[in-house]
Amino acid sequence: MAASTTALNPNYSGSWAKTQIIKHPFSTSVDLSFSSKFISLKKKKPNSKTNLIHCALHSPSVLHFPKQTFPNALIPREDTTTTTTTVDTKIHPPHWNLLQKAAAVALDMAEGALVSRERQHPLPKTADPKIQIAGNFSPVPEQPVRHKLPVTGTIPECINGVYLRNGANPLFEPVAGHHLFDGDGMIHAVSIDDGSASYACRLTETQRLVQERALGRPIFPKAIGELHGHSGIARLLLFYARGLCGLVDHKKGIGAANAGLVYFNDRLLAMSEDDLPYQVRITQSGDLETVCRYNFDDQLKSTMIAHPKVDPVSKELFALSYDVVQKPYLKFFKFSSDGEKSPDVEIPLPVPTMMHDFAITENFVVIPDQQVVFKLQEMIRGGSPVIYDDNKKSRFGILRKNATDANDMIWIESPDTFCFHLWNAWEEPESDEVVVIGSCMTPPDSIFNESDECLESVLSEIRLNLKTGLSTCRQIISESEQVNLEAGMVNRNLLGRKTRFAYLAIAEPWPKVSGFAKVDLSTGEIKKYFYGDQRYGGEPFFLPRDPNSEEGNEDDGYILAFVHDEKTGKSELQIANAVNLQLEASVKLPSRVPYGFHGTFIDAKDLANQAQNSG
Ligand SMILES: [Fe+2]
Repeated sequence: MAASTTALNPNYSGSWAKTQIIKHPFSTSVDLSFSSKFISLKKKKPNSKTNLIHCALHSPSVLHFPKQTFPNALIPREDTTTTTTTVDTKIHPPHWNLLQKAAAVALDMAEGALVSRERQHPLPKTADPKIQIAGNFSPVPEQPVRHKLPVTGTIPECINGVYLRNGANPLFEPVAGHHLFDGDGMIHAVSIDDGSASYACRLTETQRLVQERALGRPIFPKAIGELHGHSGIARLLLFYARGLCGLVDHKKGIGAANAGLVYFNDRLLAMSEDDLPYQVRITQSGDLETVCRYNFDDQLKSTMIAHPKVDPVSKELFALSYDVVQKPYLKFFKFSSDGEKSPDVEIPLPVPTMMHDFAITENFVVIPDQQVVFKLQEMIRGGSPVIYDDNKKSRFGILRKNATDANDMIWIESPDTFCFHLWNAWEEPESDEVVVIGSCMTPPDSIFNESDECLESVLSEIRLNLKTGLSTCRQIISESEQVNLEAGMVNRNLLGRKTRFAYLAIAEPWPKVSGFAKVDLSTGEIKKYFYGDQRYGGEPFFLPRDPNSEEGNEDDGYILAFVHDEKTGKSELQIANAVNLQLEASVKLPSRVPYGFHGTFIDAKDLANQAQNSG
């Protein structure tokens, strides 16, 4: 398979910052290599369609784990002329007192004993770093800005600004289970100015990254790769014991800020749903600097999901926060265009529910309350805390955007409609319906738990009738042309309004992306753009010709996507015309760009107003 060819390519260089970068202040000879036991729950298949989709993660484990070291992954920043208050990125080895040093030794020994017992058990594919971060999923070192990159073709004149894409890029080689989503956040930035392009990539200086770098090894639990079964409980206990002893500080946040990006109120925010956002500043030279863990001037007291929605008309930001332990399990809130937060609206959910995304319409927020839930007690039984609960009713909640409580929320049941992402939603008053566009995923928990069934991600139109309380769901693309579609968007100038087109990643062989599709949501017509033999990408980013205008044809714009050639090991930014899917320009990048998650584009005019600090 292509995946194995990639892994064997000598051009790949892992960027692991080995644990010997900084000596552990009270180091022991305990081997911290870790192999956690994982018991996947047997569950009823919610949808037993014929499996025609090839899944890269289901291929035999022949991938070679990148073992090359990159001892100097933390490349000094070139741009040191700025005066903003950025986070301190210097490495500060911890200063522990004698009691703390003794506690560290004891906890390291406990961890070592746990490890030696656990490493006899094989890892599932969903937590095996040899699979999860093989080939071009493996991390790269930071890169300072490189200017005047080679461009093939011509970058359209209307594109001036910076394209940014987030992704997971673990600083340290995993010592235990690791899922693709667990890595430290890294942002890749391509700045375009009058047809000339530059590139930089930087790790987001999250608290977990800063603390782990100071300790010289990974110490924060990996939310998906490690926290399952008894070893997951042990990991949590060890982590919190280290917290009690003052060896780590989890109160400053545990998130990796690796999933989403949004430019809101003149600030670029990097987000993962288990923490506050991090503010990252784009410097004049096109480099990136982490400013702070951003709490919206002390207004936000809880985590925020990685897919907040900016209404293109009001410029308000809508967001959710979910809690896996205590009620309320879900909160909704919004920020005015100048960053003033509304009071939280508590959404009553019966159980804590995984909610990666949601949608807005002109007047409503649409909240998916689906069947992938958190059951922490499953860890005691040896399983994953994220499970598919067949007994729970899946439904969508519709709430007015300006609601101050959830009393008027309308819940509409909608079976078998688990969507990891929702691409858009809008109102159709003539039929009393809210229309939701998403990719329905089966098995619903397959991203998190190993399954024999190949993943399917089916672009669907879900209609929620506010008057009758009934729903319908139909596949948008005909069965004969069915293809896995994940990661993408509609024209964001029309978010929450009826859109004709969606631009979505062709996620095959899963989890790789061999191209993107432009889908006519009303007719089901699909036009495909493939990157070519052994070339893969990620989320296609639709950039309208005028990033701030609702005028013009909906598809008048360009698709931006990082593409990686697994034969040559080279990466590029492709810019394709969204009307005819013709390649307009390709920017050759100076270093490899791993496959990643979500992106955004900041127009040069908006970037000129970028806030210079956190306040
Ligand atoms: Fe996402």
